[in-house]
Amino acid sequence: MVGERDEQCAGPSGLTLIVTAQLKIKNSKSKTAVPSRWRKEVQSVLITEAQIARRIKTLAREIERDFHGHEMVVVALLNGTVVFLADLIRQLNLPLRLDFIGVSSYGLGTESGNLVFTKELRLDVRGRDVLLVDDILDTGGTLSRVLPKLRKLQPRCIKVCVLLDKKERRVEKIEADYVGFTIPNEFVVGYGLDYGERYRNLPYVGLLRTEILPGTES
Ligand code: XMP
Repeated sequence: MVGERDEQCAGPSGLTLIVTAQLKIKNSKSKTAVPSRWRKEVQSVLITEAQIARRIKTLAREIERDFHGHEMVVVALLNGTVVFLADLIRQLNLPLRLDFIGVSSYGLGTESGNLVFTKELRLDVRGRDVLLVDDILDTGGTLSRVLPKLRKLQPRCIKVCVLLDKKERRVEKIEADYVGFTIPNEFVVGYGLDYGERYRNLPYVGLLRTEILPGTES
């Protein structure tokens, strides 16, 4: 889990979370062809639409098991989570409430520095079980700012769910409780993730061509 201790969100049996095997995406040279419309910008498909859909179903079953019997509040970080969130909550067969926190880092680049909060949480999460959803856990900078803010609102517990985890880049001591895919250290777009606010509408996670990403580290 994340830095400080939260009470565990547990299922009816009282068992705490059992972390299931995470799916590791190793090879960035997927055999799935990039649709022709995007070929000039997108180099390759890293995770296909079908892989994402399958994985979300599995994640949803794990989350249902752990949150069963408690008042659940899903808190999603804007804007990158929108596509993942929409698919994830429709697979969650349990009552939930939904709210958003807006976070944004200035500029067009691929780094997540200079974080600003653009929207505050409206729902009262005191005493509730919170599922915090983010698109990608990279250095951990974003979650290390968001989690203390959320803890101050005194939820009963907080669990973190991310679609993607770039473990190699971690700086902060933060792990997610539910991870869709562990990916290599490459800048990804699609399925909600952007570069300069573009590419969020790609239905898969892909890699941009290097000429589109000037001066990227990865
Ligand atoms: P940190 O470093 O704070 O990163 O854990 C989390 C936020 O940084 C953005 N991010 C990316 N966005 N492709 C993107 O489109 C990436 O490969 C990537 N890596 C980090 C993202 O906004 C995320 O919430």
